Amino acid sequence: MHKNKSNKVSIVMGSQSDFKTMKLCQKMLRILGVKFETKIISAHRTPKRMYDYAKNVEKNNIAVIIAGAGGSAHLPGMLSALTPIPVLGVPIESKKLKGLDSLLSIAQMPKGIPVGTLAIGGDGAINSAILASSIIAINNKRVKYNLIKWRRSQTRSVKKKPK
Ligand code: RP5
Repeated sequence: MHKNKSNKVSIVMGSQSDFKTMKLCQKMLRILGVKFETKIISAHRTPKRMYDYAKNVEKNNIAVIIAGAGGSAHLPGMLSALTPIPVLGVPIESKKLKGLDSLLSIAQMPKGIPVGTLAIGGDGAINSAILASSIIAINNKRVKYNLIKWRRSQTRSVKKKPK
């Protein structure tokens, strides 16, 4: 059987200011034993960097892209337009509209160019890492084992009664 070498997640974000949210992706991927890289790429401020990144992402063995962006959050959608690699979008909580702008911008993609959109902010960042790991687990037994183990321990941590 052909061995799938693409087992790495690429975390990208529109600005340094997104990192306080997006570093939660890194934390979760480390827990699940998934390899990743992290970059700042802005669809608006660094369009050439975005284009060059998207054109090389497949040959860099990236299996899933997690893209965080806030406000008129075009990065996840533009990346999905430029590469067939699955793109998960994390709407960053913006100052003025609390991330509702980011959420609608990322979720409302035109048919044909999908972005898997997560919840606003930290919960979305953590879930994007778990979802990316589930995608990688399709072809990676070690990641699948880590994912099952982590989910079991989450289940065990839920108390039957409130204190
Ligand atoms: C977006 O603009 C970024 O993703 C960020 O969430 C937002 C604000 O960026 P800064 O002005 O903080 O750099 O492109």
